[in-house]
Amino acid sequence: MAIDLRDVCFAYPGAPETSILNIKQWTVAGNEHIFVHGASGSGKSTLLNLLSGILSSSGGEVAVLGQRLDKMNAYQRDRFRANHIGYVFQQFNLIPYLGAVDNIQIASQFSKQKKSARLSADIENLLSRLNISRADWHKPSAKLSIGQQQRVAIARALINQPELLIADEPTSALDQPNSDNFMSLLMSLAKEHDITLLFVSHDMSLSRYFDRVDALSEINQSEASSPCL
Ligand SMILES: Nc1ncnc2c1ncn2[C@@H]1O[C@H](COP(=O)(O)OP(=O)(O)OP(=O)(O)O)[C@@H](O)[C@H]1O
Ligand SMILES: [Mg+2]
Repeated sequence: MAIDLRDVCFAYPGAPETSILNIKQWTVAGNEHIFVHGASGSGKSTLLNLLSGILSSSGGEVAVLGQRLDKMNAYQRDRFRANHIGYVFQQFNLIPYLGAVDNIQIASQFSKQKKSARLSADIENLLSRLNISRADWHKPSAKLSIGQQQRVAIARALINQPELLIADEPTSALDQPNSDNFMSLLMSLAKEHDITLLFVSHDMSLSRYFDRVDALSEINQSEASSPCL
């Protein structure tokens, strides 16, 4: 299993009386491409942050790629994320004053995968593949278009050859043609690299690209104002 959750509860430390997630059981098989939809504020980003170890659960078992994140400390979870997970954030989280190449290179420094000679070639391949023209490779990312930033964010998520790729509404700022291009590209890269893909969005029209579609409201049994016990 790529993802296996059992009796997982999560409440933000600042609001312990309100559980955001309460998941009895939820699994995703390796190489599955799954779309999870839910309204704004329903806990999609929170779920992804738990699965990637950015947040830690308040209780229960969180197994990702066969490893128990709930038994790791923050440092171990950070290492795990760097080595195994690609994450395309809702707001991309690129470093604004660095160019595409440097943004991608930084992600690779946290991982144990690469030697530098191969790395430059891999970065160049990815950027070309993602249609970022060479003239834009070293421009501060704040000066790239939103669509270009999105593609740099995918390149960064793929550089460490992750087994699991997590994408948090990455098309929300794109117009229809760019959104279609982005989705086709993401799906073909996930297929080509044999990656398990977990994509969340409120936009049901994107579900057509996926083998499996789950509603967060079905996965999450959390009731308003109940704490994690
Ligand atoms: N750092 C935080 N501290 C306390 N509560 C938070 C924090 N971040 C999010 N929440 C709350 O957790 C709930 C779920 O938020 P989350 O960001 O996971 O939703 P979402 O489904 O990703 O929404 P959107 O579609 O708008 O991105 C919301 O009620 C939100 O207010
Ligand atoms: Mg969100």
